[in-house]
Amino acid sequence: MSSTQAAAETPRKYQLFIDGQWVDAESGKTFETPNPATGKTLAEVAEGDKADIDKAVAAARKAFEGKWSKTSARERGRMLYKLSQLIEARAKELAELETADNGKPIREAQYIDLPGVVENFEYFAGWATKIEGETIPVPGQMFNYTLREPVGVCGQIIPWNFPLLMAAWKLAPALAAGNTVVLKPAEQTPTTALELGKLIQEAGFPDGVVNIVPGFGETAGAALASHKGIDKIAFTGSTEVGKLIAKAAADNLTKVSLELGGKAPNIVFADADMEQAINGAMMGIFFNQGQVCCAGSRLFLHEEVKDEFLERFKERAGKIKVGDPTDKATQMGPQVSEEQLNRIKSYVDLARTEGATVLSGGCPPTLEGDFQKGYFFQPTIFSEVQNTMRVAQEEIFGPVVSVITFKDESDLIRQANEVAYGLSAGIWTRDITRAHRFAREIKAGVVWINTFNMMNAASPFGGYKQSGYGREMGKHALEMYTQVKSVWVDLSGKPIGWFGK
Ligand code: NAI
Ligand code: MG
Repeated sequence: MSSTQAAAETPRKYQLFIDGQWVDAESGKTFETPNPATGKTLAEVAEGDKADIDKAVAAARKAFEGKWSKTSARERGRMLYKLSQLIEARAKELAELETADNGKPIREAQYIDLPGVVENFEYFAGWATKIEGETIPVPGQMFNYTLREPVGVCGQIIPWNFPLLMAAWKLAPALAAGNTVVLKPAEQTPTTALELGKLIQEAGFPDGVVNIVPGFGETAGAALASHKGIDKIAFTGSTEVGKLIAKAAADNLTKVSLELGGKAPNIVFADADMEQAINGAMMGIFFNQGQVCCAGSRLFLHEEVKDEFLERFKERAGKIKVGDPTDKATQMGPQVSEEQLNRIKSYVDLARTEGATVLSGGCPPTLEGDFQKGYFFQPTIFSEVQNTMRVAQEEIFGPVVSVITFKDESDLIRQANEVAYGLSAGIWTRDITRAHRFAREIKAGVVWINTFNMMNAASPFGGYKQSGYGREMGKHALEMYTQVKSVWVDLSGKPIGWFGK
């Protein structure tokens, strides 16, 4: 078995990126990030904390009030476009590093994550010059117009499941709109965001416009979310931490956007193209080892097709190639961490306790050599699940799908909506009226009809209910990173009548 180039090297070293400088943490502390496929140390990273967050916020404020505010929209767009090109030129190397840090199969890092990163910077580069105010037809001799201005200094806290892509979703719209940023990558996967810092410098962004402070959630993350010096906090991660962020932000009335967990229904009606639906179910739950907020983790099967579907689905799941993520043929790599692996194992125990059947998988695969120490888990199907069980209600965030049977459409819609989350949903049917009815009735921010996990930088993404608020990507993302100012001008040249003589 091959091992990644990135992993074969002696551990890399990374510092914090603050005010255009690469610096150690004020405390001098560092932490190690392992390669989840082998457990070996990939990199030693400076551990940012409150003092470093303070410095980064101050740098972002200085840049926002200074050089960045004098940078034209066209220049911002050009820098973003240049950044997209620099990333594209180094895409292979960045994909390899992403795989070494996160564990995702190289074919996903290379063909899904990195192209998505390039696409997002490129897309928002185009927006920089198209953020406009409006003139409002108010009555009387008055001229009223709006200015659409940046929010200011933005804190951005991102997760480990798509490390570089989440950085792109956050940074691109913020920078296009003229904000400055303090970005905190996840402690499990800080390396590619720090590599991105080098390209941000090369693309010509002024010092302090982007600051990248790796560190832990409870320290660096909490210090950023509760900082009085930021104007906005954007977060992607667990619903539990999302609530902490919202509470911290409430104290300073910092603007907040949250992209949180999900427990998406993926629904197969009896009239669906079965081959398509099986592929969709696989994509829905086994992509990125199931560590996807919009994963189709509740698979609803119509009772007429349940047996046939499950037989074929189980066979296909059993054939998934799990192992060395650097191997181009690998379809599933390790989970990101031992903590996540243990969480998944505990849900397998819970499924049995709750009375569900572990139809396939349910344990780690047998692998050889260094990979014995990796955090691998097999594709797992729970059948005979009731929608009310915890395995159907809680986000497991692994390659684990809960199969629920349904009888008719109204019963289905009720169950599909009976969950705290509302990020995404999928439906497989040839009946177009049913498909569009479902799209209206499901409480979710994204709906896929005869497809799953489709995304594009131009299309909004975000949640209903406890999956969060705000929309990333598309023009909707710009709403989260701009604020509107209404300007009134009197054209009559006369005194205001009300208190006149
Ligand atoms: P998490 O929500 O703790 O971590 C996400 C980010 O938040 C990381 O950068 C982390 O350092 C930061 N963070 C953690 N605690 C914080 C705090 N008190 N203040 C500010 N920032 C903080 O997620 P974790 O613990 O890694 O994973 C637990 C579960 O969360 C997963 O099993 C999954 O269910 C869910 N999750 C959902 C994600 C999504 O894309 N919606 C991504 C990652 C995790
Ligand atoms: Mg956590």
